[in-house]
Amino acid sequence: MKIAVVYHSETKNTQKVADIIVEGAEKVEGVEAKSMSIDQVDEAFVNEAKVVFFGTPTYAGTYSWQMKKWIDTSKIKLAGKVGCVFATENFLGGGADLAELSLIGMLLVKGMFAYSVGIGEGLPYTHFGAVCIKDGTEEQQERVRLFAERVANNVKKSFKE
Ligand SMILES: Cc1cc2nc3c(=O)[nH]c(=O)nc-3n(C[C@H](O)[C@H](O)[C@H](O)COP(=O)(O)O)c2cc1C
Repeated sequence: MKIAVVYHSETKNTQKVADIIVEGAEKVEGVEAKSMSIDQVDEAFVNEAKVVFFGTPTYAGTYSWQMKKWIDTSKIKLAGKVGCVFATENFLGGGADLAELSLIGMLLVKGMFAYSVGIGEGLPYTHFGAVCIKDGTEEQQERVRLFAERVANNVKKSFKE
């Protein structure tokens, strides 16, 4: 099962979190995950992916315009895939939640199945998606890893071929 991780990153925080998503997802047997910047998207891989994670920095309390532009202009068909999100921010309360909810709205419009694990697996909860302050403390990074592993596990179980 392929999992694509598409991110926008200018100063590498979101890129580092994207790499941790890959690490977490690949803990699940049979999962091949690949992270890719919006500037270098492997379209063939995304087309084959069952899950697409979208990672964004928080810009003025929401997701970045670069990510919005990529989603608005990409010709890749996202409908029917599971969509998950993660965001980085500089400050606690800096708007990452709204960035994620806005991104999730976009995924719904695209026809994706939005998924966050939520409170479904107990602590630590992932309310809307993973959040890191900059590239995250060790604890935040561990939550990212677990989030990705849980998504991979649950999608593998629930969305059989
Ligand atoms: C234009 C701009 C707006 C930003 N707005 C916010 C913000 O509203 N809240 C916040 O916590 N951080 C804000 N930041 C900080 C970034 O979200 C944060 O540094 C992020 O981790 C950068 O990701 P990157 O290193 O992947 O580019 C902003 C940064 C820029 C460049």
